[in-house]
Amino acid sequence: MKALVLAGGKGTRLRPLTYTSAKQLVPVANKPVLYYGLEAIRDAGITSVGIIVGETGPEVRRAVGDGSRFGLEVTYIPQEAPLGLAHCVLIARDFLADDPFVMYLGDNFLIGGIADQVSAFRAGGYDAQILLTRVAEPQFYGVAELGPAGEIIALEEKPAAPRSDLAIVGVYLFSPVVHQAVRAIGPSDRGELEITDAIQWLIRKGHSVQSHMVSGYWRDTGRLQDMLECNRIVLESVDRDIKGAVDTLSEITGRVVIAPGAVVENSILRGPIVIGADTKISSAYVGPFTSIGADCVVQNAEIEYSIVLDGSSVDGVSRIAHSLIGRNVEVSRASGPPYTHELMVGDHSRIQVRS
Ligand code: TTP
Repeated sequence: MKALVLAGGKGTRLRPLTYTSAKQLVPVANKPVLYYGLEAIRDAGITSVGIIVGETGPEVRRAVGDGSRFGLEVTYIPQEAPLGLAHCVLIARDFLADDPFVMYLGDNFLIGGIADQVSAFRAGGYDAQILLTRVAEPQFYGVAELGPAGEIIALEEKPAAPRSDLAIVGVYLFSPVVHQAVRAIGPSDRGELEITDAIQWLIRKGHSVQSHMVSGYWRDTGRLQDMLECNRIVLESVDRDIKGAVDTLSEITGRVVIAPGAVVENSILRGPIVIGADTKISSAYVGPFTSIGADCVVQNAEIEYSIVLDGSSVDGVSRIAHSLIGRNVEVSRASGPPYTHELMVGDHSRIQVRS
C-alpha cells in the first residue's frame, strides 16, 4: 500500500498567507498541518509516499525532505497547475503503479489517525473507500448518500438540498481501478478533474465504493476559523513542558509549553498555549488556545485564541483574539498625534479594528 499526499493547490481561502507560503505548512500548535497527515500515514504502516506539489513545491521539499525524519520514503510529483484532485491521481500513475493507495489531502486535519480505515479497506477488498463524518451544515461539503450496507450510492459537491448530513473527509482509499476512472472523466464546470466524478464513475460501472465513518475530530483547514479550531483541539491535549526561562514575576497557569531559548518576563500565561524557541514574552498576557511561533516578541500586549507564525512581533497592542498572524509581521502601537491607524497590509488581508 502507498500514500498520495496532496500538497499543491491555490489556497485562496487562506490568503494572504498562501501568497508566500504553502497552506499545508501553516502550523497547528507550532507544527505544520502536513506533518500530522504524514505521521498518520506512517502510523498506519505505510512508508512509500508520493507528495503532489505545485508552486510552493520548494518550501514543501525543504520542510519534508526525503521523509526519513518521519520514517517515510517520499517521492515528489510536481503538478503544473491545480487541475483537480483526480488530476493528482492521473499524474501519479507511475509512482502508484498497481498498488492500492490512500489519498490524503495535505490540508486536512484528522485526529485519531487512519490505521482503522486502512485495515477496514484491506479486509473489505473494496475498489474504493470514502471516509465520512456527520456535519451540521452539509451544504458546504461534498455529501454522500448511502445504501443499506453502507455502500455509497451517490456523491454531491456542496448540494443546495443535501440528501444526508454525511460529509466527505479528505482521506480516500483506492484500488488501482481508480486509474481507469480518472482517465474516463472530463473537467468540471470549474475546469478541474473532480475526484467525486471519478468516484461516481466507479459507482456507475458497478465497482464497490464503501463508506467508513470517522469517529474522531476532522477539519479541512482551508479557512481561518478552522485553523484556530484545530489549534484549540491540539492544544487541549498538550502536556505542560517548560524548557525556556520564566522569571519570578510571571504567572503560568495550566498546560503551557515553552520551548528552549524562550524567555518569559513579568507576564501572565494561561494555558493551553505553546511558545516557540527563542521567543520573548515580556509584560504581556497570553491567553488560552494560543500558539506563538519561534523568534517572536510579544510585549506590553495581550493575545488569546490566536496563532502567531515565526519571526513576528506584537508590541503594545491589546487585546488580540481570534487572529492568525503570518511570518515576520509587526503589530505595534502608534504613538503621539495624529491618532490614526497606520497599516501596510498585503492583498486579501482582513483587519478588524475596534476603536
Ligand atoms: P482544496 O482545498 O480543494 O483547494 P485549494 O488548495 O486550491 O484551496 P482554496 O479552495 O482555498 O483555493 O485542495 C485540497 C488539497 O489538495 C489541498 O491540500 C491542496 C491540494 N490540491 C492539489 O495538490 N492539487 C490540486 O489540483 C488541487 C485542486 C488541490
